[in-house]
Amino acid sequence: MTSYTELANPPSHLAIIMDGNSRWAEAHGFQRDEGHRAGAKHVRRIAEASADLGVRYLSLFAFSTENWDRPRDEVEFLIELIGETLDNELHELIERETKVQFIGERSRFPTAIQDKMRKCEAQTSHFDKLFLTIALNYGGRWDLTNATREIAQAVQQGYLHPNEIDESVIGSYLATRSLPAPDLCIRTGGDRRISNFLLWDFAYTEFYFADCFWPGFTTDALHIALREYGQRQRRFGGRRELTRKPSLVESN
Ligand code: IPE
Ligand code: IPE
Ligand code: MG
Repeated sequence: MTSYTELANPPSHLAIIMDGNSRWAEAHGFQRDEGHRAGAKHVRRIAEASADLGVRYLSLFAFSTENWDRPRDEVEFLIELIGETLDNELHELIERETKVQFIGERSRFPTAIQDKMRKCEAQTSHFDKLFLTIALNYGGRWDLTNATREIAQAVQQGYLHPNEIDESVIGSYLATRSLPAPDLCIRTGGDRRISNFLLWDFAYTEFYFADCFWPGFTTDALHIALREYGQRQRRFGGRRELTRKPSLVESN
């Protein structure tokens, strides 16, 4: 096992866009399903390593609102895999004192899957070592749309005055309301885009794009990403003393 030097400044909230399962399978001469299976299995290793490195909140993008547009057999396989993974991992999540929550529109999943999600949340609700959020049928636009509808209903019913709507009120209607904003988002798979993940929450999140596929994203690669994050200077639009000499030069 690799031993890690202690990280000076680990992200408290790490979000991961776990992309590249299918290309990983293709690169290894496997069927696509095997890529998804390897990707699901890989979650445990990275979740444990993240917690060991000081991450308190881990949010994983597992299935987007757009992923329904994939071929039917792939969607069916993914849904089955979600169910299997929840069954297989619950014991370990309890062992590791991990509190699990799911974000996303669950009603589109079969009731058996919804039941497993509920069971997983109920049986881990009292833990606080790691807060694991799994985004299933989640989209940042869905979340904002949903929040807008609920805010409109609250106004219509007289619980809320339009003048009271500020950023914290909007945040409190999002599925991510119990979470601090992500400090770092890692996307594996080589693409540099958000793909409709946490649109509101990412306002001042740092990004790290890993040029490897999700099942091949090792704990060493995670450590490198977190160490690089620790050296960044976050300014949140304000003015801070520079810790290093500016290194960018003028373009021609
Ligand atoms: C990520 O792997 C898993 C999901 C989006 C469900 P992909 O299946 O998107 O893999 P690539 O990006 O096509 O390689
Ligand atoms: C992002 O991956 C969503 C998940 C990892 C669940 P996609 O493969 O769906 O994203 P695009 O289509 O490449 O943007
Ligand atoms: Mg992809």
